[in-house]
Order: sequence, then structure tokens, then C-alpha cells
Amino acid sequence: MELNAAFDAFRARAPFVPELAIVLGSGLGQLAHCPEAAGGVSLSFTEIPGFPQQTVVGHAGKMIFCELEGRKVLLQAGRFHFYEGNPMALCTAPMRLYGRLGVKAVLHTNAAGAVNGSYQVGDLMVISDHINFQGTNPLIGPNLDPGPRFVDMTEPYDADLRRQIHAAASACGQRLQEGVYLAVTGPSFETPAEIRAFRALGADAVGMSTVPEAIVARHEGMKVAGISCLCNMAAGMLPQPLTHQEVLEAGAQSAARFEALVRRFVRGLDL
Ligand code: HPA
Repeated sequence: MELNAAFDAFRARAPFVPELAIVLGSGLGQLAHCPEAAGGVSLSFTEIPGFPQQTVVGHAGKMIFCELEGRKVLLQAGRFHFYEGNPMALCTAPMRLYGRLGVKAVLHTNAAGAVNGSYQVGDLMVISDHINFQGTNPLIGPNLDPGPRFVDMTEPYDADLRRQIHAAASACGQRLQEGVYLAVTGPSFETPAEIRAFRALGADAVGMSTVPEAIVARHEGMKVAGISCLCNMAAGMLPQPLTHQEVLEAGAQSAARFEALVRRFVRGLDL
């Protein structure tokens, strides 16, 4: 995909430079239908040159510029997953657009499986760090200036934003876990042996997104935060198979809490 053409189309439609871009994963998709979003400027992925139609059912594939809790934000509904066969450059292209527009921070949200046995289905987890187990890196290839060739990843998830997410959870009276997100490619779920291995490696949650986008967001110099909705216990932890359906149902169950947390965080956002 040609990034310059994509950015020209994106910038031409952007009514303002958002302070924060929020990637809505499974469990937070309803935020794209909130009244504030309805009053915003919506840009379909298909209006951006090089962005294909979304394939995952239930993902609209659009970006919405709107005011949320008094702050200028961009809501990204739908994302390009690696397991759909998308090249890494496309999976991470939205981060390139946000970085170039001058967005300062990105909040990634996703559904994940709980690897940490002390977590419960429905818990929310602020991502403290990640393990890239996708076997590739979105920065492979010619370096895209002005980002550095070798990006520092000692604090990929901004410590101050994490603190603000914890403060928002306390203000909402919500329990919030904090842990390490390990990204696999999917689309098969993991085996019980893989989950035991991931636990030994230090993972608390496992999922199929977010890590490539977080890496590119850091390359673009944006601050990064992430929250996972733990929609199932990972493979082998319970005596039953995993289904996409249970992930969706747990996500729906947590949706109101997830939205309340994100709204509170946005309201107090201090960049
Ligand atoms: N594994 C990987 N990705 C996921 C899971 C899981 O158990 N749950 C939600 N996304």
C-alpha cells in the first residue's frame, strides 16, 4: 500500500488532530455507536486508498473523529489482523496515519485469553508489557523516516498512562489487573502446552492483535497504552474447548464496564 496516498486522503478528511486514538477491539465496539460518535466525522476504511474491505464479521471498518468526555479523539472501529492474511504494513497502517497527523497517544483495546490463573473471565487488564510471539516484526523492511531504525522498547506502554488508567478504574470502583500480553498470529487458538509455555515465559494474557500496532505507534513516537478484556480462560485451563462465541459473549458482558473505564480515562487524560 502507498502510505502517502493513504495519508493524503486521511488528512483531507480529518476535521481536527485528535489528542488520542482509541482502537476498539472486541468488547468495546459499541463505543463506535455512542451518541458522540454519531455526531462526529466518520471515515470508512474504504475511503482510504490501499485499505481493503474488512473481513471479520461485526467489524465496521471506520475511523470516527469525535468529542468524547470533552476531549478530541479518534475512534477506530475494526482493525486489520495478521491472521486475515494482511501484510504487516497494512495491519499497522492506521498507526502511520495517526502518527503523521500528529496524534500524541494511542489506546489499544482487545479481547484476550487469561493465562494468569488468578484472573477471572470478564476482568480488564492494563497491558504492562508485551511479548511478540508472532514471528515477525512490522518494522522489517526499509526504515520509514523519521522513526529510528532500532526502536527502544524498554517501556512500550507508557507508565504515566498506565497510572491514569488505574486511577480511572479506582474512580469507577472497578477491579483492574495489570499484566503482560503475549501476541500470537492465530487464527487457531493455542494448545494447552503452548499456554503452559507462555505462562513460563511470563505471559498473563494471550491474543492475536495489538503488538504490531504498538510497535509501529512507538516508531511513530506516539505514547501507547493498552487494555485487554479477558474474555476466556486460555486453552487447557478449564475442562472445555474454546469458542469464538464465548469470547464474543464475555466481551458483551464486559462492554458497559469497559466503556465506563475508557470514558473515565479519557476525561482525565493528561498527556
Ligand atoms: N487466545 C488468543 N486470542 C484470544 C483468546 C485466546 O484464548 N481469547 C480472545 N482472543
